[in-house]
Amino acid sequence: MRNFKLTSKRMLSVEPSITLMITSQALDMKNAGEDVIILSAGEPDYITPEYIRKEAINAINNGFTHYTQTAGIPQLRKAIVQKLKQDNNLDYDISDIIVSTGAKQSIYNVVESTIDSGDEVIIPSPYWVSYPEMVKLSDGKPVIIKTEKNKFMLSAEELERNITERTKIVLINSPNNPTGVVYDEKTLKELSEVIVKHNLLCISDEIYEKVTYNGVKHISIASLGEDIKERTIVVNGFSKAYAMTGWRIGYAAGPKEIIQQCIKLQGHSTSCPSSIGQAAALAAISSNSPEVEEMHNTFNKRRIYLKEYLDKIDSISYVEPLGAFYYFIKVDNFYGKNGINDSVSFAKYLLEKANIAVTPGKAFGNDKYIRISYAISTKDIERAIMKFDYIIKDLSE
Ligand SMILES: Cc1ncc(COP(=O)(O)O)c(C=O)c1O
Repeated sequence: MRNFKLTSKRMLSVEPSITLMITSQALDMKNAGEDVIILSAGEPDYITPEYIRKEAINAINNGFTHYTQTAGIPQLRKAIVQKLKQDNNLDYDISDIIVSTGAKQSIYNVVESTIDSGDEVIIPSPYWVSYPEMVKLSDGKPVIIKTEKNKFMLSAEELERNITERTKIVLINSPNNPTGVVYDEKTLKELSEVIVKHNLLCISDEIYEKVTYNGVKHISIASLGEDIKERTIVVNGFSKAYAMTGWRIGYAAGPKEIIQQCIKLQGHSTSCPSSIGQAAALAAISSNSPEVEEMHNTFNKRRIYLKEYLDKIDSISYVEPLGAFYYFIKVDNFYGKNGINDSVSFAKYLLEKANIAVTPGKAFGNDKYIRISYAISTKDIERAIMKFDYIIKDLSE
């Protein structure tokens, strides 16, 4: 009989999500009636603002329920062009834009459309959990560069040191998940010079653009000159800024040649993103709502509240997040105690002893840390602090 394997070698090379493992254990506990505080979610606790929901309902009632162009409706792509000009000082044509089923699909489209077998993609660590797996799925090679010593920012020197004949793409994510670090203009400028000098591409994941604090402004690397813009694909979306994770709308803007390939790939895999999601996204991007601003202000209040608490604990450390809604906390001082020896066992310990779900740093490529999200209610943050306090005292004895 022919040697027949049920699954492909390619899929077997891809890691399952550690994030989902802990969340799934937490949900099992919740379903069994336990009071679990979920600090591991990667999404706003708010529901989508009313003005956006209304437009989606109108779209359904008006029969806007058919396939659209694969790249998205022209009105939404036009609004994205205007947004990129207004917010980021970037000039694009509507044909340079593709709207996808979330920023996740946009990134995957770009990776799949640009790399050949064995091409290297430079990914600063800690990284968003899906980047290396997307590269592997496209038969590329993820090249991970640690950034902990440089306040979690990739430096131009480190980038240059890791470039080889096979390097094709550098992936930048600012504001960053999981660290909350926002890259400054000087660092971005230096990185752009190296990228241009070596004729590389850059994917700039800007999904947390709107979620910044202390007056820090997000800068798109693509806006730092025509030569870097020509080789950058800007990825953004609606999930985090407008509490629209379930609508699944994101987009990419970049060189026509690449966007055309992305449209081809999307056309053969998923076709257009949801028509109703696109109507909602058009409403979101077309006005500045006080509801959205209020949500971002609340994130900031929670961020400050947590900071005051975390600053009192000597045995942990973190780099102050100025974007996104996470703290990435160094907890390796507790390793070696009570059966804890890495970030996964620490997360399990917190879940089992204190009913708190956090994300192990291992999922982001750094096993000394855990990530907690403050996109949960202030009441739950207060409760989590009390429980966390108890655990820290217990482990410090
Ligand atoms: C850094 C980063 N990029 C992209 C995404 C994907 O966002 P979307 O919901 O638009 O697919 C996420 C979601 O968690 C993220 O954290």
